[in-house]
Amino acid sequence: MAQEKGGNLSEVQARIGASHNINDLDRKLQFYGRWAPDYDQDVAALQYRAPRLAVDCLTQALPGPPHDALILDVACGTGLVAAELQARGFLQLHGVDGSPEMLEQAQACGLYQHLSLCILGQEPLPSPEGGLVCLTTRTNPSNLQYKEALEATLDKLEQAGAWKRLVAQTVDHWELATSPLEVAPGAKDGFISGIIYLYQKQRSP
Ligand SMILES: C[S@@+](CC[C@H](N)C(=O)[O-])C[C@H]1O[C@@H](n2cnc3c(N)ncnc32)[C@H](O)[C@@H]1O
Repeated sequence: MAQEKGGNLSEVQARIGASHNINDLDRKLQFYGRWAPDYDQDVAALQYRAPRLAVDCLTQALPGPPHDALILDVACGTGLVAAELQARGFLQLHGVDGSPEMLEQAQACGLYQHLSLCILGQEPLPSPEGGLVCLTTRTNPSNLQYKEALEATLDKLEQAGAWKRLVAQTVDHWELATSPLEVAPGAKDGFISGIIYLYQKQRSP
């Protein structure tokens, strides 16, 4: 991906669509690593709305002012969620991602106070206790296996008392589908849906 220039919508759809059936986590993270330099321009072509939707959700769920909240952006990618958070007054931002190349992009955006390499499900999160954890994923058909694996990991963290779920909200208009087969029945505009998870990190006993 890095050697290719970001292209028009159909080129981007073909490139990203080809990755959708990767379910092996190592291969998925390698794909994200290759994609990192072109990620922002490619998702812009797909009218990617997840960061804004996630921060809408976070703002609604948060009891206090944004500047008091420590947000851990899990699977932060290049930092698009951080840009949206900062624009809404969130100032304490930590990020983790399983791809070193994505973390390089996130570092370059200069919005996180702390960034760490961390593979969710394989390693504990390195953030301080007591923060809000935000993560998102697509709910189109080819991502369902990944989503189920992610949810199993989240459930284990909750059962172990590490995190408490605040919100799991499905939203429409996540991004343009990469193929008509990915569009949910009844959706007329070619967009797929996604899901936003918010957790409160719990203090250790
Ligand atoms: C679709 S991107 C989303 C990035 C960012 N949240 C955004 O909205 O632009 C998914 C990100 O999740 C990371 N990722 C996928 N599986 C992961 C895992 N198990 N642990 C940590 N990061 C993971 C990838 O490296 C990639 O940066």
